[in-house]
Amino acid sequence: MNRIQVSVPGGTYPVIIEPGLLPSMSQHIEEVHSGRRGLLVMDEQVEHPHGEQLRAEFGEAWHLRTHLFKATEANKQLDSVASIYQSALSQGLDRGSLIMGVGGGVTGDVAGFAAATFLRGIDLVLIPTTLLSMVDASIGGKTGVNLPLPDHRGVGKNLAGAFWQPKAVLIDPLVLSTLDPREIRSGVAECIKHGFISDPSLLDFIRQEHAAILQAESETITRLVSRAVQVKVDVVQGDERESGRRAALNLGHTFGHVIEPIPELDLRHGEAVAIGMVAAAECACRLGRCDASVVGVTREMVSLMGLPADLPAEQPVEDLLEAMRFDKKTRDGHLRLVLPGEAGVDLIEDVPEEMVRAAWLAVGATT
Ligand SMILES: NC(=O)c1ccc[n+]([C@@H]2O[C@H](COP(=O)([O-])OP(=O)(O)OC[C@H]3O[C@@H](n4cnc5c(N)ncnc54)[C@H](O)[C@@H]3O)[C@@H](O)[C@H]2O)c1
Repeated sequence: MNRIQVSVPGGTYPVIIEPGLLPSMSQHIEEVHSGRRGLLVMDEQVEHPHGEQLRAEFGEAWHLRTHLFKATEANKQLDSVASIYQSALSQGLDRGSLIMGVGGGVTGDVAGFAAATFLRGIDLVLIPTTLLSMVDASIGGKTGVNLPLPDHRGVGKNLAGAFWQPKAVLIDPLVLSTLDPREIRSGVAECIKHGFISDPSLLDFIRQEHAAILQAESETITRLVSRAVQVKVDVVQGDERESGRRAALNLGHTFGHVIEPIPELDLRHGEAVAIGMVAAAECACRLGRCDASVVGVTREMVSLMGLPADLPAEQPVEDLLEAMRFDKKTRDGHLRLVLPGEAGVDLIEDVPEEMVRAAWLAVGATT
């Protein structure tokens, strides 16, 4: 069993990684939470393969109710949180109760936001079931939902939310056996990002083991998850609320968040981040922060793992720039971007819009 401790001002909790952990979850939960009443907020895609086994494991001492959730980006919204509140009230949850989020990043973000706000905050345990949520979304305490933008200008990612640390993150890499290969690739995008921001040897590992990773081979995936979780934990521990170093985790995200909700592009989160990392490298190169080899390596890693490096369909560059202005990383109308440099990545204030336009054009946006 690999146990990585997270220690931030908002809480100290374990991330436990072990193939075959699912049938012994309750034991780990009882170590961090003393109540026996809870709500399982479960992705409905996860219910069929894993739900029964998970519930059976808790036994009669627990009063559990399952709230099934259709995990789509479109459902990552306030109505879904309100519906969880209703289930929590029906189940009689009180301040000593627990919400468990079982699913990918969408489920974890929505269940986490419900836990952060129901009765002004109750305990949360996350059981991530996608590679992306194992290595990224479930760690660090960011929860939230998307909001519709004014004047029907689409959807803004994660514009309402809270920092709310879980009591534990319990990872069973064997649940990835039921995950679509496209979702595995999407999760690898965040692992590549972790490599670029602080562990180049993780990039070498992904290169060497790419075939086994893409087949979700249990031992290799477990090693990948453990290494990528460690990077995320190290970054989050240095900066819980994203006032400094944690911003590095947004590499590719300010670009990616703009394209992820566009229905015609049909991009998974990690796919949007992959294109976003290429755009960030193109932008950095134009700003003279790095040479063209950084663009080359980014494109090479992304393509090796079967991820898109360019926009899959036409998008007018002006629309993309307009949507970017609503991102949380924009301050007083100035674009702030995490960009690669000669040594790691940095948050760059006030990036000239011309450079961002050129970066979008370099990944296929149209004039
Ligand atoms: N909170 C954070 O710090 C953070 C960080 C990164 C990403 N995110 C968020 O995470 C979300 C993306 O997460 P995701 O990629 O996990 O998407 P997701 O939750 O939509 O899951 C992807 C798909 O896999 C299905 N699924 C989940 N587990 C499964 C399993 N074991 N077997 C079969 N199917 C399964 C889901 O139903 C869904 O269709 C985005 O909304 C993003 O903003 C949050």
